[in-house]
Amino acid sequence: MTRDIRPRDDDRPVAADGGTAPGADDVALDPWGSSTVEDYRNLFAEFGIEEFDELLEAVPDPHYLMRRGVIFGHRDYRPVARAMREGEDFAVLSGFMPTGDPHIGHKLVFDEIIWHQEQGADAYSLIADLEAHSARGLSWDEIDEHARDYLLSLVALGFDPEDGELYRQSTNREVQDLAFELGSKARFAELQAIYGFDGETSVSHMQSVVTQMADILYPQLDEPKPTVVPVGPDQDPHMRLARDVATRMRYFKVTEAYASFEADDAEREHLAAAYAALDDDGETVRCVDAADWLEAEMAPDADRDRAVEKLRAAGKEPLRPRVRFLDRNATDEAFDALVAAIDGEKRRYEEHADAFEMDVERAEELAREIEVDHGGFGFVPPSSLYHRFMTGLTGGKMSSSVPASHISLLDDPEDGYDKVKSATTGGRETAELQRELGGEADECPVYELYAYLLSGDDDAFAREVYEECVGGERLCGGCKEQAAELMREFLEDHQEKREEANELLESLDIDLDSERRGVPGDEH
Ligand code: TRP
Ligand code: SF4
Repeated sequence: MTRDIRPRDDDRPVAADGGTAPGADDVALDPWGSSTVEDYRNLFAEFGIEEFDELLEAVPDPHYLMRRGVIFGHRDYRPVARAMREGEDFAVLSGFMPTGDPHIGHKLVFDEIIWHQEQGADAYSLIADLEAHSARGLSWDEIDEHARDYLLSLVALGFDPEDGELYRQSTNREVQDLAFELGSKARFAELQAIYGFDGETSVSHMQSVVTQMADILYPQLDEPKPTVVPVGPDQDPHMRLARDVATRMRYFKVTEAYASFEADDAEREHLAAAYAALDDDGETVRCVDAADWLEAEMAPDADRDRAVEKLRAAGKEPLRPRVRFLDRNATDEAFDALVAAIDGEKRRYEEHADAFEMDVERAEELAREIEVDHGGFGFVPPSSLYHRFMTGLTGGKMSSSVPASHISLLDDPEDGYDKVKSATTGGRETAELQRELGGEADECPVYELYAYLLSGDDDAFAREVYEECVGGERLCGGCKEQAAELMREFLEDHQEKREEANELLESLDIDLDSERRGVPGDEH
């Protein structure tokens, strides 16, 4: 299967001064920049994106894009997979900037949303019109036209809009209110560091960022729940910010603790080790004894020394495991209610409360319940899924501005056929060489079409194409002819379904003829 390095799927425009977006040099994943993903493996090491393969077994009946490694990475997808397995509530959401026609690259995301909806997710999809207007400079008329096309394709591919929800950012009042609220936990310095924003960045562009944060957390307004956001890896900066902001909004932070003082994770490990070593048939373990033990038994380093120092300061205080609720944003009433709700032995301090007979999981649950009951959101940090970008049919990037490089979902089926027929391949110079050496399916945009789209759920077919190609049994002429025919059929079928989707779309309450006036943003 294709496991190699693929460039991103569209060319984001450069900044008005002709350079790349400000800060693009040190921002390797830039949602509005023109950076390419050079090496997917870097994303794991550098940004902490996790490999999807390790999780494949946790997903019941995984989608073919998961099985084929097209979905290669994730952040914190485990809670989503668990909810799916256990029949609990979860949600999926993704958004699209209506900057051009929807193409086969967008179809990957449409399919991911639809698949999660079929697995039981509350499903949401949105048109990022504020972002398109402010960050990409599209007029409202252009946005309206493209928005309809995205929604029609999404519905035609199987999204159920009566069960799920479709909206545009600009008319969703709840999203705007949430964006405003979340904005109080995001700082300009942070947007600067994450996106390279500077003094020239428009306020509307910044507003589109908090709007995206609100989109991502919107499925949790009814009730906190695991939520997955399928996107390209260029959107990862948004995901990291959304996860941070979701956490900062929480009323309480739950941690494990051993004594009345605060300890960081590294110090806590030392405290846990000392406690485990000294806790002997119910004898009280004193902080000073733990300090002595650490100095005798553990190699000295900065973490150990800080732990020892804190333990000495606590002196004769007993060391006892407990869960701690730290007050982050709680109102006084919420803090009182939390303390009252803790079962068993507890102790209340100025900025935190300790519970001695509660496990962390129950504590998390309680903290969330109290928060939601007292006017907070109780957000679960959102998860994400990342897919590879498709290679352009002409080699290089798949670019919205080079029609031959991509296939639009609105392309005439015959044009789709022709584009595949003239695509670059991973074939050898002559048929003879091809028979001898085999083709390079891993380098072939046509093979990608088979793997990402044309084979659908049929793994055996995708494997057959791959093996025949690398085994030299498949020649590019016939292979492209087959792919081109499949593409034509797909487009015919899809466009028929789009026609049928029209009525359903009209019946939904989405304004696709906005009477909005305005001046498009100029940061494109
Ligand atoms: N920024 C996304 C893009 O450039 C669009 C978007 C807006 C989005 N809100 C979102 C994506 C929420 C995922 C989730 O395409
Ligand atoms: Fe690509 Fe098909 Fe040629 Fe193989 S035979 S290189 S998959 S076009």
